[in-house]
Amino acid sequence: MLSLLPQGCTRIKTLYQGAEAIVDLCKWLGREVVVKTRLSKGYRVRELDDFIRRSRTVREASLLSSAKKAGVNTPFVYHVNPVEGWIIMSYAGSQSLRSMQSSSIFATLIHMLGDAVGRLHSAGIVHGDLTFSNVLVSETRLTLIDFGLGEFSNEVEKKAEDVYTLFSSLTPLQDSEKLMKLFLEGYRASAGESAARVEERLREIGSRGRYVEKELRRRASSGKK
Ligand SMILES: Nc1ncnc2c1ncn2[C@@H]1O[C@H](COP(=O)(O)OP(=O)(O)OP(=O)(O)O)[C@@H](O)[C@H]1O
Ligand SMILES: [Mg+2]
Repeated sequence: MLSLLPQGCTRIKTLYQGAEAIVDLCKWLGREVVVKTRLSKGYRVRELDDFIRRSRTVREASLLSSAKKAGVNTPFVYHVNPVEGWIIMSYAGSQSLRSMQSSSIFATLIHMLGDAVGRLHSAGIVHGDLTFSNVLVSETRLTLIDFGLGEFSNEVEKKAEDVYTLFSSLTPLQDSEKLMKLFLEGYRASAGESAARVEERLREIGSRGRYVEKELRRRASSGKK
């Protein structure tokens, strides 16, 4: 499916098509840009759908800009059209943290990510979907994208969930413990005074997760649901 593009934009190629959004690489005012179009959902009541699309578009653009002000590298937002669900932003390259997992600088990147997430949290911003695909890498520079599930919040629980999401991607990797330690080192250096509380909450979520896993395995093996 091809999305309608803002006037003056020429599609170079579609980078991504998901359930919620289409992301196109385009030419706009002589430069390469990314147009993220938040899609309407046919199954939702029209008014509600418009409202959700508009507010998420505005919120994402606003979080991208606020994160940048907090010293976290995010794409530059050039233009926002909430009615059409468009954000025009700078192109941050094609490589994500996912594709860097076997790179020799992966550990360094994880340490840098800890620092970036700490900055985000100390500015009262929660990312909401901290997966490897939402961290782009260009040379040794990280760019955080996809703030569609983000919010302005200082809740320790939400910050801990951000870190927990990232740790869930690290868990299957070799050296996962070392990587988590490196992340937290970076995080502590920039997250400020709430870092200790976030870490404490993280340990609680972790042990709750392990308990649930153990319980599910136990039930499965004893044939219970
Ligand atoms: N500024 C950008 N520069 C380069 N690539 C980008 C940029 N923004 C998005 N992309 C590419 O498009 C993909 C999807 O974008 P994004 O993560 O913002 O959407 P999404 O919210 O994950 O969509 P969905 O809600 O359907 O999961 C990214 O994983 C990345 O590959
Ligand atoms: Mg994404």
